[in-house]
Amino acid sequence: METQNLLNIQPYQRLAAYYDQLMDYIDYDIWVADIEELTKSFKSDSKWLDISCGTGSMALRLARLGRNMTAVDLSPHMIDIAAAKAKSDGVQINFQVGDMLTFNNNEHYDVIINLHDGLNYLLTTTDIQVFLANTFALLKPGGVLLFDVVTPLLCQTHFRGYREIFNDDQGGYERYTNYDPITQLAESIFTLQTNQDDTSEVETHIQKAYELSDVEGFCRDSKFKSWQILDDESMEAGDAESERYLVRLIK
Ligand SMILES: C[S@@+](CC[C@H](N)C(=O)[O-])C[C@H]1O[C@@H](n2cnc3c(N)ncnc32)[C@H](O)[C@@H]1O
Repeated sequence: METQNLLNIQPYQRLAAYYDQLMDYIDYDIWVADIEELTKSFKSDSKWLDISCGTGSMALRLARLGRNMTAVDLSPHMIDIAAAKAKSDGVQINFQVGDMLTFNNNEHYDVIINLHDGLNYLLTTTDIQVFLANTFALLKPGGVLLFDVVTPLLCQTHFRGYREIFNDDQGGYERYTNYDPITQLAESIFTLQTNQDDTSEVETHIQKAYELSDVEGFCRDSKFKSWQILDDESMEAGDAESERYLVRLIK
């Protein structure tokens, strides 16, 4: 893209429109099957909260299976797209804009999910502790929190100097992601063309990768009574070879 002006905008502002395209390689149905397996003690009409729902791909599937879904995201643009998808599918979901660190609607849930890298947007141990305390407070006794965590191994393997270009009649985007193994931070810069030829909008997304020992520490320091840290591919105990952990905590 040959442009002169770069305008910084919030994460998932313009990219929201491209998010489903960006996640095209993900099989959400496999994730739903894994989630069902990890929550099979709950009835189909149990009360669920997706606390970083994005464009609602997971929440929609769970609502179609009968779950009573509330779905929250920090980005109003992601919520707008999710709500439009639910409306066109005739699926009932309570969507709200909210921050996973502070969201509180005076309701209590059987299951809370935070999937596909949502937790990696929390960059400090303090924020993760706040997230765990907030979700603990939002769960009913015996309720389950499920989240996934991208590891340094995944970022090293796939995101050192990663480039992607997507073109469409809206202008598309260019993505450049780099991972710094010292800070364990992955920075993704999305450059999106506007309809003014000389201006592009830029979204910078920063995510932190976490090791098994980090995740074990977060669980140990929380109020949850038990937890499992699984490899998301094998669904066996996660280890140093895992690219992504799927974590289940029980209140
Ligand atoms: C990689 S997307 C995952 C979306 C969705 N869970 C999925 O499975 O497709 C990460 C989402 O986390 C949201 N997010 C980031 N920080 C957040 C926060 N503090 N509170 C709520 N949502 C947040 C972003 O807006 C984005 O929609």
